[in-house]
Amino acid sequence: MTYLQKILESTEFLVSKGITSPSIAVVLGTGLGKFLEHLKVEQTIDYADIPHFPVSTVEFHKGKLVIGTIGDKKVIAMQGRFHLYEGYSLQQVTFPIRVLHQLGVKHLLLSNAAGGINSAFKKGDLILLDDHINLQGGSPLSGLNSFEYGGIFPDMSAPYDGFLNERFQQIAEKSSLELKKGVYASVYGPQLETRAEYRFLGRIGADMVGMSTTPEVIVANQLKLPCAAVSVITDECDPDNLKPVDIAEIIAIAGKADEKLSQLFVEVINSLG
Ligand code: HPA
Repeated sequence: MTYLQKILESTEFLVSKGITSPSIAVVLGTGLGKFLEHLKVEQTIDYADIPHFPVSTVEFHKGKLVIGTIGDKKVIAMQGRFHLYEGYSLQQVTFPIRVLHQLGVKHLLLSNAAGGINSAFKKGDLILLDDHINLQGGSPLSGLNSFEYGGIFPDMSAPYDGFLNERFQQIAEKSSLELKKGVYASVYGPQLETRAEYRFLGRIGADMVGMSTTPEVIVANQLKLPCAAVSVITDECDPDNLKPVDIAEIIAIAGKADEKLSQLFVEVINSLG
């Protein structure tokens, strides 16, 4: 079965469950789940029950689609995403994005936990992605040289949608919520970075670093699906003063910023036409 056939089968399965014409998809990053409390939930579907869907392998990553409404908008949230470091290919990591697009989603909002490289970024800060540097060593488009997938060589001059980013900033300002902007570098992981690696990332222009998001954004751009992404800074990565970090602490800090991030997402969704 081809990749495209799998996408279509997964989509068909979701349509058969009554999931039709959702307008917004939300991908919830590590430690970020409070958004779901704002959703009037209609249905929850485990990834394991969706044909061809990958299944999260990391214990703290939940694996389900949560379908519901915010106001009059139909929203699909991915609670748990897939990462290269779990052993998935970039095509598997981005499979759900293609299914969401096929279902008819018009906007994609992503969140992630990230290490702060820019010294102005502090734990718990929310940073809107302005651009990214893909250091994962591959592309989710590799081997898909077909116009069936939206054409090859997508433009990446503005990977994060200008309209959505402006909307995020307007809403943050209106709510007196500090939302900085930055460049996100994605690495393979799962180990965190060495001091030399954090120093390198800073020098090449990264403001924060994480292990996700760029594959999904590359595919969204190929599909011309407008997207925006927000990082929660969970650790401060000053190479000259680096403290040991552990994943439990990263998750705990993401959890503390979870509510303000969720409110921001909800308000942006409410403001969309
Ligand atoms: N590095 C990579 N990924 C991360 C980090 C980090 O410091 N913090 C949260 N995700």
